[in-house]
Amino acid sequence: MHRRASPRAAALLTVGLLAALASLFAARPAAAADDDTLARRARACTGCHGQQGRAAPDGYYPRLAGKPAAYLFDQLLAFRDGRRQYALMTHLLEPLSDDYLRDLAAYFAALKLPYEPPLPLPPDLAADAAAQARARRLLTQGDAARQLPACSACHGAELTGALPGVPALLGLPRDYLNAQLGAWRTGTRAARAPDCMADVARRLAPDEVALLAAWLAAQPVPTTGSAAAPVAALPQPMPLRCGTTVAVAP
Ligand code: HEC
Ligand code: HEC
Repeated sequence: MHRRASPRAAALLTVGLLAALASLFAARPAAAADDDTLARRARACTGCHGQQGRAAPDGYYPRLAGKPAAYLFDQLLAFRDGRRQYALMTHLLEPLSDDYLRDLAAYFAALKLPYEPPLPLPPDLAADAAAQARARRLLTQGDAARQLPACSACHGAELTGALPGVPALLGLPRDYLNAQLGAWRTGTRAARAPDCMADVARRLAPDEVALLAAWLAAQPVPTTGSAAAPVAALPQPMPLRCGTTVAVAP
């Protein structure tokens, strides 16, 4: 949930909502989802999620462009059906059919757009080489003593995500990362059962959540070749079972 209510955020939100409602109604009568129709439908979303779904500059609204289609689709169902909580999105999605949402998810997934350079590491973390090494270790090795698998075992060696259901950990704002890991720990975000991310998030200490969010948000998204895209397949089976990746096909 987006809790901060700065005047700027409130203004963004109002603009977003008005644009959202206008485009949803404008798009309603169109039956076939051709590119024009989809671009029009997407205006319901880009008021908050940034131009073409590149993420909004306020540091919270997540990017949609280029994320796995099956993942995006399942998140839309999650907001509509109450597995994720953000009232404004839920109201927007409630009247929309699965087909409509599947088309929107595919539309955003297909947009391959450059990423903004990340913000620098916060000064305390920039000055703490041991903490940075700890973040890298958790991401690439996990902690066997706690049965904490490496994040990269599921999110890909470059952390750019893996098809069909695992999103990237790069290119996301720090506040958003903190909020998502926190929501899994407290149960306000749930993925399809078995919810592997709930297990992972609960095995992390609160200071590790903060560390990972700060470190990840400061990493550039690799841009060579198609490295910014989610990998087509992981080299090994995932270390825990994750419902999302099997339940929903795009
Ligand atoms: C009023 C602002 C607003 C509008 C309009 C909006 N969103 Fe969102 N959306 C958000 C916020 C905020 C979140 C993060 C919520 C959270 O904390 O879990 C989000 C999350 C998402 C996510 C999850 C992203 C991820 O990486 O897990 C998807 C997918 C999404 N929105 C798609 C859409 C689509 C498609 C539309 C248009 C039909 C839309 N949104 C309209 C604000 C909005
Ligand atoms: C066993 C596989 C697995 C492991 C290990 C794993 N993840 Fe995930 N992660 C997933 C899946 C699957 C999703 C999509 C969940 C859903 O459907 O909502 C996800 C989603 C996420 C998201 C939400 C991203 C967004 O755009 O909203 C974050 C943040 C995240 N993981 C962080 C981590 C971190 C940090 C670690 C390591 C400490 C980690 N994950 C380890 C499978 C995994």
